[in-house]
Amino acid sequence: MLRTCFCGEINSSHVGNSVTILGWIYDLRFLKNLTFLNIRDRTGTVQAVCSKEVSPSIFLQSLELQQEFCITASGVVQGRIRKTKGYIKKDVEVIVVSLNILNTSKALPIDISFRQIPSEKIQLKYRYLYLRNPDITRILVRRSEITYFIHEFMNKNGFINIETPYLSNLTDGGAKDFLVPSRIKNNRYYALSQSPQMFKQMLMISGFERYYQIARCFRNEDSRSNRQPEFTQLDIEMSFISSKQIRRFIEEFICKLWKKFLGVDLPDRFPKVTFKDAVRKYGTDKPDLRNYLELVDITSLLQSFRFNRFMEYCSLEDNCILIHVKSPLKKTNADCLKEYQNIGSKFKIKHFLFVEVSSNIIDRLNRKIFHGFLDMDMFRLLSSTFHLKDGDMICIGIGKKSLVNRFMGNIRLKIGEDLNITKKNIWKPVWIVDFPMFKKEESGSLKPTHHVFTSPKSCDLSKLRSDPTKVISDSYDMVINGQELGSGSVRIYKREIQKEIFKILQIEEKDQISKFGFLLDAMQYGAPPHAGFAFGLDRIMMIMLNQTNIKNVIAFPKTTSASCLMTNAPSKITG
Ligand code: AMO
Repeated sequence: MLRTCFCGEINSSHVGNSVTILGWIYDLRFLKNLTFLNIRDRTGTVQAVCSKEVSPSIFLQSLELQQEFCITASGVVQGRIRKTKGYIKKDVEVIVVSLNILNTSKALPIDISFRQIPSEKIQLKYRYLYLRNPDITRILVRRSEITYFIHEFMNKNGFINIETPYLSNLTDGGAKDFLVPSRIKNNRYYALSQSPQMFKQMLMISGFERYYQIARCFRNEDSRSNRQPEFTQLDIEMSFISSKQIRRFIEEFICKLWKKFLGVDLPDRFPKVTFKDAVRKYGTDKPDLRNYLELVDITSLLQSFRFNRFMEYCSLEDNCILIHVKSPLKKTNADCLKEYQNIGSKFKIKHFLFVEVSSNIIDRLNRKIFHGFLDMDMFRLLSSTFHLKDGDMICIGIGKKSLVNRFMGNIRLKIGEDLNITKKNIWKPVWIVDFPMFKKEESGSLKPTHHVFTSPKSCDLSKLRSDPTKVISDSYDMVINGQELGSGSVRIYKREIQKEIFKILQIEEKDQISKFGFLLDAMQYGAPPHAGFAFGLDRIMMIMLNQTNIKNVIAFPKTTSASCLMTNAPSKITG
């Protein structure tokens, strides 16, 4: 059964050689005195031919074969010329002289050649068969190669790979914990680690200086297209480093990764956008900069002219946001407009208007074709302010300040796709910086925007007492093409500041001790200044391998409601 080469490796340099291959029958055709087999292993496929003329017994044996039988075949590689769609392709095939069936296969419940894409339920139930599709196999092989490169890169840069516990204590992260009961201590639970955050900080206090880990993280939340309850981080922590320096290191890593696996030269330095500007211009802190459109707040411009109709429609707690689309090549259709309106209803947006500027716009305004607030005077003002031209489009949303930017951010993305504005095949990395330290909950209490260990910018330390809502944190998110690939921050390393943050967050003394006591203690023993970062490794894979769903880059993912259809987890405990 000794394999001489993998199916996907056989090429014209093998012509005349004897080979032995092992794999599965991906496809087969019976043609008079010939049986054509398409044999697949994890590297690809190769055609093998059982010919009655060459070996009557092998030909007879081949008639028993069926799809997905696991076989071994030996034979001689021969060149062949194939004509596909008018092109002549030089190819090779194996003329089989020995054949062994290692195992038979029932007819598959799933079409693994994807002539018909299986439903998600079937994909997940028969995951082991779904993974046989060569394109899906290739994704996991690539993931392995990228992971190997990461280990090499980190090692070369002096990082120590250290594993931290998965069975940990309850945390105060944004997501809920998965709980594991202790077998020995009644009514005691471990929490599965949401991230190695506190452990990596402890390792800095231990003196390791440069730590990394490819760590599983567990967050008890429903999945989305870029989120799974169980996922992997490339987790990094460094001592004696500023936020600027660590961002530089992370940029260098991403540039090397993109160059090696995608052949792409990313810019040496990634642009930085503040959180405030990102929300103002793009309606999100994960902007997709392949799309040039920006949101413009025209509330005060219109208010200053006191247009009667506008004042009726836009109250004091509202904002009015405009997107100007300059002569797009494609036009919107009724379906798109309906969808924009539907998004508007979901966001509870008060008014939404989409206008195509054309030579008859004045006539349309006179005939009051546009619903609502847009009248002739207002249009003239917008036209002169934004230099509107025939063929341009404007899109205006009015709604609550807290919602309308997010809504228009969504519309910006939809327009980008619908009108082919978002450029394909380019990469737009960006750092989002200067996040506020805290966000205010509806109840009025403060929550950390990042996590409780994030340091305020040193220039803002004095504001912690006077006005914590104004404090900016020393944290940074990396976003590429609208996906948050990772986030990190400079950490608090002084006990007094950490305690101050807990106080602002109204974490009582006893909770501080039960949840974070060991960290507060450790900070008293010469804790060094340190900073870190964590990439969502699955997200890196997703974006590099051009996948729109995180499930496609994970061997055994969970459904949207966090179950595994193959093993039926989670299950009831019986007995
Ligand atoms: P954060 O919670 O932002 O930070 O996570 C870091 C990165 O992990 C990825 N990620 C996820 N990927 C898939 N499924 C999920 N449910 C999921 N949640 C997060 C994202 C995200 O940017 N300890 C801090 C990092 C630090 O400060 O060093 C942390 O975990 O790509």
